[in-house]
Amino acid sequence: MFDDDIQKINAHLTQNISRFVENQHLRDICLYALMSGGKRLRALLVLEFCRVFGGQDSHALMTASAVEMVHCYSLIHDDLPAMDNDDIRRGKPTLHKKYDDATAILAGDGLLTLAFEILSAYETHPNAHIRCMMISKLASCSGLTGMVAGQYRDMDLLPDYNPNLLDDIVQMQYQKTGALIVASCVMGALCGEQMDKDILSMVTDYAVHIGKAFQIKDDLLDVLSHSSIIGKATQKDSTAGKNTIISIMGIVAAQEKLDYHIRTARGILSRIAPPDTVARLEHLTGFISDRQL
Ligand code: IPE
Ligand code: IPE
Ligand code: MG
Ligand code: MG
Ligand code: MG
Repeated sequence: MFDDDIQKINAHLTQNISRFVENQHLRDICLYALMSGGKRLRALLVLEFCRVFGGQDSHALMTASAVEMVHCYSLIHDDLPAMDNDDIRRGKPTLHKKYDDATAILAGDGLLTLAFEILSAYETHPNAHIRCMMISKLASCSGLTGMVAGQYRDMDLLPDYNPNLLDDIVQMQYQKTGALIVASCVMGALCGEQMDKDILSMVTDYAVHIGKAFQIKDDLLDVLSHSSIIGKATQKDSTAGKNTIISIMGIVAAQEKLDYHIRTARGILSRIAPPDTVARLEHLTGFISDRQL
């Protein structure tokens, strides 16, 4: 159902690297990180929310490129020895294994920065106010009030975080994973020139639920799947002695929590637009809980 869009997203990512990165070796490094077969969920959310509100694919594809660059940067840094110390990502050696730690740090920095250069480009949206709103959203959701704060908490580096408390884990997971998913949905809506505060707030509510669901599923796959299927190491959380929603609630209750978030997200989606308009988003919502990788 989404193969055509994934191809378009991949083509745009490749074009943007050719356009914005001068040095061929740096291009190759970026392409290794970006083009290794991610699911492109965040990019698809941008595209679909833009379409729901009548926006143009050409704008959404630029925005989607920016979001995938931030996502891929987060994976590169997440895999570094100082963080999760992972050797395999998307079935291939992680960037620091293929190259070295310094390359991985710098490639992450480069992709993060490039995302904002792309968002500021005229082709991303002719309306400068909308571009500015998207830049602000992506910055807050990926930075020190979003993903970076969540990663700090996940590494147990913040004194206000208690890794044994369910509420703290839920909040940490929302920040490290959910916030970028919120940014993707809201930026898609902005790309479609949707500026109504009530509608943007419903889009945010929907995204908060799928964001939480997405990380619960990631943790479930960590326990229940195998690296040959999901293309990254499994049993990481238990090996690292890290509490997750699963270690605290158990698999069955975690699955119920996941189902609750998906059900609630579906309910919100049905209030955002008529069923035929959100049919593809409905499908993506189901994919978040059904996915096997
Ligand atoms: C993995 O994200 C990292 C998390 C936030 C849990 P994805 O599962 O979306 O990774 P790719 O892009 O499909 O490889
Ligand atoms: C990562 O969470 C979230 C990010 C911000 C990258 P995980 O550490 O659980 O993601 P995986 O399992 O390595 O993909
Ligand atoms: Mg991690
Ligand atoms: Mg990790
Ligand atoms: Mg994980």
